[in-house]
Amino acid sequence: MQNQAILLAKRPVGLPGPDTFQFVSSDIPEPREGQVLIRTLWLSVDPYMRGRMNDVKSYTPPFPVGEPIRGGGIGEVVASRHPAYRPGDLITGDLPWQLYALSDGRGIRPVDPNLRPVTAALGVVGMTGLTAYFGLLEVGRPKPGETVVVSGAAGAVGSVAGQLAKMNGCRVVGVAGSNEKIRYLTEELGFDAGINYKTDDLRSALRDACPNGIDVYFDNVGGPVTDAVLFQMNDFGRIVLCGQIAAYNLERPEVGPRLFPLFVMRRLCAQGFIVSDFARRFDEGLRRLAAWHQSGRLKCRETVVEGFERLPDAFLGLFRGDNIGKLLVKVAEPSQPARA
Ligand SMILES: NC(=O)c1ccc[n+]([C@@H]2O[C@H](COP(=O)([O-])OP(=O)(O)OC[C@H]3O[C@@H](n4cnc5c(N)ncnc54)[C@H](OP(=O)(O)O)[C@@H]3O)[C@@H](O)[C@H]2O)c1
Repeated sequence: MQNQAILLAKRPVGLPGPDTFQFVSSDIPEPREGQVLIRTLWLSVDPYMRGRMNDVKSYTPPFPVGEPIRGGGIGEVVASRHPAYRPGDLITGDLPWQLYALSDGRGIRPVDPNLRPVTAALGVVGMTGLTAYFGLLEVGRPKPGETVVVSGAAGAVGSVAGQLAKMNGCRVVGVAGSNEKIRYLTEELGFDAGINYKTDDLRSALRDACPNGIDVYFDNVGGPVTDAVLFQMNDFGRIVLCGQIAAYNLERPEVGPRLFPLFVMRRLCAQGFIVSDFARRFDEGLRRLAAWHQSGRLKCRETVVEGFERLPDAFLGLFRGDNIGKLLVKVAEPSQPARA
């Protein structure tokens, strides 16, 4: 058995292609004193990884060319010379796209043994759940009776943000890219209405779905969806700039037509945020998300792609809209049941 890794072969221009990624094999390493050897079970693919493929200054450093791509993952400790971990322990944290990886313990932590399924640690009770929680509640600050529109609504962040807005007594409208996604939002998650931005006339559909205008816009996508939403914002509306996936593969940022006159007329406030801005409150967020998830108040779906070799294509699936809920890659089964 050999180790395998997926490296960033070159920086993509536009949408990444097969030449962005390079598969390499090597021997499985032995842990040294203070290290653990982790067998990767699950890897999360996330839109922000596209930004890390560019050589630009951002809130996370770029992936170095020739090094493994990294992201959130879950793994099983298979050998340990680290005092905090034993073989069989499940860990989560920042992992390289490798079948096996060494860690000195920094950036990983045990998976909560009560969490079911464990993959919730990568989604609703993990980074994307926290993004929805702090973005909606702290940046958007929705009040009961207000209308909240969520773009990218059937994805990992959007589906949680919309449900949290419902729990806060709001009218919630989701925008997503297929009728199946709209059905999921309205029939399974309790959204009041859904708009398929690929087939509906966005501006008239938004007017119909939001008869009292829009008070809070939770934006995951940007682009033409956001342009249409901004026209329907109420005075003093809040725009939560969570992500702009429609722009991530653009070779040059789009400029104009500029909508800032609307911000003046309607006294709008748009605020960008990064989930790590709230790092000191992660325990609170995770506790509440876990309780809602466990009680069934907060529903979540996962889209699972099987096989390490399918990681690059799974990642590209985010830009095709392949996923409902959190998009995950299953790399391997655990070799033994997780210890409580
Ligand atoms: N600020 C933060 O700290 C933070 C943290 C996590 C994530 N984010 C951002 O939040 C957003 C959602 O992330 P996620 O992990 O939950 O991903 P996700 O929504 O689960 O997956 C991405 C979805 O975006 C939609 N999409 C792709 N291209 C699009 C386009 N051109 N126009 C409109 N929609 C498009 C697709 O759904 P459709 O079928 O609906 O098109 C796709 O399923 C991303 O922008 C991400 O960068 C921000």
